[in-house]
Amino acid sequence: MNVNLLFRKNISDMDSYVPGIQPKDARVIKLNTNENPYPPPSAVIDGLKQAIGAQLRLYPDPVCDDLRIAIAKTYGFSKDNIIASNGSDEILSMIIRAFVDPGDSVLLMYPTYSLYKVLAIAQSAKIIECALTEDFSIPQTAYSQQAKVCFVPNPNVPAGNYIDKKNLLRLANTCGGILVIDEAYVDFAEDSCLDLLADNKNIIITRTFSKSFSLAGMRIGFAIADESVIKGLMKIKDSYNLNRLSALAGKIAVENLNEVRSRAQSIKALRDQTAKQLQSLQFEVLPSQTNFLFARPLQATARFIYEKLLSKNILVRFFDQPRVDQYIRVTIGTENEMKIFIETVKQITEQV
Ligand SMILES: Cc1ncc(COP(=O)(O)O)c(C=O)c1O
Repeated sequence: MNVNLLFRKNISDMDSYVPGIQPKDARVIKLNTNENPYPPPSAVIDGLKQAIGAQLRLYPDPVCDDLRIAIAKTYGFSKDNIIASNGSDEILSMIIRAFVDPGDSVLLMYPTYSLYKVLAIAQSAKIIECALTEDFSIPQTAYSQQAKVCFVPNPNVPAGNYIDKKNLLRLANTCGGILVIDEAYVDFAEDSCLDLLADNKNIIITRTFSKSFSLAGMRIGFAIADESVIKGLMKIKDSYNLNRLSALAGKIAVENLNEVRSRAQSIKALRDQTAKQLQSLQFEVLPSQTNFLFARPLQATARFIYEKLLSKNILVRFFDQPRVDQYIRVTIGTENEMKIFIETVKQITEQV
């Protein structure tokens, strides 16, 4: 039997999501997937060490109450406004499965976080794509589209800019469905959209512990939304979607938000310094409210810079797609990593 023929047609036909490379070689300076260069708060490591023991034979709390209560308290909500997930990617997938029937419309911007499209295709959705304006903000055409779900990352991805909240509110009012505001990078921004939730039951805000909290390896995310939305999402989650250790790590991390925020401050300062250095090396650098820079070399192609950096063991992200292929995306690493990165870019550009 050819089991390939058993797949649904759109699954056979689709391309999978391509995550950034996770190199095995520890010598590589890894600036490609927006992880945090700092370790997680030490309280998280201590808590995890204590939790590794006989109790791992037991299933975790299916609804992650301790974590949800800690998140709710920290951000000023009730636990009924929170759902926890195995990374924020899992929430995005739950949202599509919960709201989108085959043939329903999903509204996306271009360029954006490419997982949204992969999830929409897997659900047999009709995809409406609106190209972002020259400065990567929402185009007028987006406000006349109707969709079951619309995804917008804010701060924006991969451009890194902050999308004006007024425009997101307008989109929530015009799209006719759920607006997902993906706040994966919000702790590196000057603002957040949490205040939009009070008056807009069709907004879901998703967050991750992978960036500012330094816990990408633990896979923890959450969404905040109206109680009724959370109740519906709870119905379709896997029974034990977060393991014991991840739920505990998330709880302790959120209780140590001050430490997380102070490290985010250092990353922001280094980001702004790196942006200036890249500008002086003939890069156009987009304004960033994230822990990465989206930078366009003016004297060589982005692919050339990416490949040259790679040959010197520095891994940044290059997207081989229209418009974004003019840029490299550079995660802000440690001070030393950024020093080596800038020195190497300087050497490369001097040879052009
Ligand atoms: C915009 C955006 N959303 C979600 C994610 C995924 O986060 P997580 O690690 O929580 O699944 C990423 C990861 O890079 C991202 O850039």
